[in-house]
Amino acid sequence: MNITLVAGARPNFMKVAPIIRAIQQAQRDNKNITYRLVHTGQHYDKKMSTEFFEQLSIPEPDINLGAGSGTQAEQTAVIMMRFEKELIENKPDIVLVVGDVTSTMACAITAKKLCIDVAHVEGGLRSDDMAMPEEINRIVTDSISDHFFTTSKMADENLIKSGIESQRIHFVGNTMIDTLYQHLNKLIEPRIYKEQNLTSGKYFLITLHRPNNVDNPAKLKELLDYILKGSEGFPVVFPVHPRTQKVLADIAYEHERLIQTDPLSYLEFIYLIKNSRAIITDSGGITEESTVLGIPCMTLRNSTERPETVTVGTNILIGTDINNLENHLKNLQQNIWKKGAIPELWDGKTSQRIVSKLISLYGGKNI
Ligand code: UD1
Repeated sequence: MNITLVAGARPNFMKVAPIIRAIQQAQRDNKNITYRLVHTGQHYDKKMSTEFFEQLSIPEPDINLGAGSGTQAEQTAVIMMRFEKELIENKPDIVLVVGDVTSTMACAITAKKLCIDVAHVEGGLRSDDMAMPEEINRIVTDSISDHFFTTSKMADENLIKSGIESQRIHFVGNTMIDTLYQHLNKLIEPRIYKEQNLTSGKYFLITLHRPNNVDNPAKLKELLDYILKGSEGFPVVFPVHPRTQKVLADIAYEHERLIQTDPLSYLEFIYLIKNSRAIITDSGGITEESTVLGIPCMTLRNSTERPETVTVGTNILIGTDINNLENHLKNLQQNIWKKGAIPELWDGKTSQRIVSKLISLYGGKNI
């Protein structure tokens, strides 16, 4: 069987890396399985893409579609046109898309219109927040996918509710956590750690990149002011996403305890999570990583598509009411935080389960 794997933006890279490893293992075990890796080029910087390929030992993509930046529609259109050509030239048995970024949706639509089966890794997640482009990407992708590899039973239920037969839903766990376990003993201390005299458990780590948190300069300033006020005099480390960087530069935001850096590589970023006092974020993936690492996490959103990080893990939904943040930061000061546990099947073996399932579904035979 031939699979085309799609990776487009930063959070995709941690998800495809262990799947490729599992395919390579299956090949060593004489299974009849080959793959092509397509990078859409949605993220293209060294910091947002190249370093992830290097650190996670992802092979060079077979093709880079060079989509680059643009509006949602522009990115979708360019990716679809170029991916269609790729699929016509190299027709696989199945296209595997991961996550919820624009590349995920664009490539799923393109494949399905060419009557090629689509499998969605991380299918079934729902935030019910239609203001998030990712929610639209999830709904569209799931509405046309043939198979769903899910991270939680809640995701399975969401798919069942939308009318998908249970035989097409495969609860396998979380590929991001495969990558986390595979790299835990290779973490790299970022340069700023020594430069800024950071010590374990004595700094906050924040990430902000959602349009509704960062695109309005006044809102971003207010958020940062609150975080700095509530952070107990500890340093606040802020690796800044390119989108946020543009707004921060416009308002020239600075504070003596705020340590701004460029986006960090995977191994550096996980090092910072693992040693932080707590995380404040609007990302989804980081809530999963902090859950597994047992680090308190506050999410600056009203909803999450990853509810198990709240019901099982260390994450608390703060919402957009900034007073809420203050209350939770006070609890943290008094060491009042839930301990959290690791969600079911987040055991580092998800990618093996995905590849075994694909082989059983698409007829990979021993050769
Ligand atoms: C995308 C994903 C989001 C994910 C995030 C992680 C969608 C809809 N959103 O959002 O789910 O959490 O990636 O990073 O797909 N830029 C660069 N260099 C790059 C890539 C982007 O400078 O390598 C700049 C672009 O010029 C643009 C901004 O960053 O101004 C946003 O990039 P884009 O890919 O549109 O979406 P993200 O906000 O990164």
